[in-house]
Amino acid sequence: MGLMRVLPFAKQLLHDHIEEGHIAIDMTAGNGHDTLFLANAVGETGHVFAFDIQSEAVTATRARIDEAGLTERVTVIHDSHDTVGAVIDRESRPITAAVFNLGYLPGSDKSITTHGNTTVAALNQLLDVMAVGGVIVIVVYHGHESGKTERDEVLQYVESLDQKQAGVLRYGFINQINHPPFIVAIEKRK
Ligand SMILES: C[S@@+](CC[C@H](N)C(=O)[O-])C[C@H]1O[C@@H](n2cnc3c(N)ncnc32)[C@H](O)[C@@H]1O
Repeated sequence: MGLMRVLPFAKQLLHDHIEEGHIAIDMTAGNGHDTLFLANAVGETGHVFAFDIQSEAVTATRARIDEAGLTERVTVIHDSHDTVGAVIDRESRPITAAVFNLGYLPGSDKSITTHGNTTVAALNQLLDVMAVGGVIVIVVYHGHESGKTERDEVLQYVESLDQKQAGVLRYGFINQINHPPFIVAIEKRK
């Protein structure tokens, strides 16, 4: 088997942490591809929350989920992901996986992008509400200028996490041209 590419590895990590009935969160819904992936993984008794600040993304995600017949399994939230702590902290089922695809929505307004300060605030809240053993997967796109700043802010935050509280992994190819995306995965330990 060859080296696993970054995006399949992100999905593998998420899949490995989700069981039927769990809750998963798509922190950057975009066109809803990851939301659909998570909705299939949590099964009939699980639930997915998906955040996006763009109405275009919210509409696209809802359409994708409706088309797959999974409407009841997904709540799409038209708001910033740094409201996650307030929106879902009262859930009784374990929240075991969350994913961020940083940057802008391909084919859309490139000025609407994720930012380090809100991403870090959301990570902080997620670490509070998630189950021990749960995983947060962040796909970091850093080819554009604001992506570089966000990358540095996210790395500074995750590197500062106490290893007793969370295990942090970085995965990516380091000899590819054009700043390929890489993954940061955070596994909550306590
Ligand atoms: C790279 S795209 C996500 C692609 C998506 N995972 C998919 O499957 O199509 C990044 C998305 O993050 C959204 N976004 C930017 N800032 C956000 C924030 N503070 N909270 C939630 N979503 C945000 C953008 O509107 C954009 O749709």
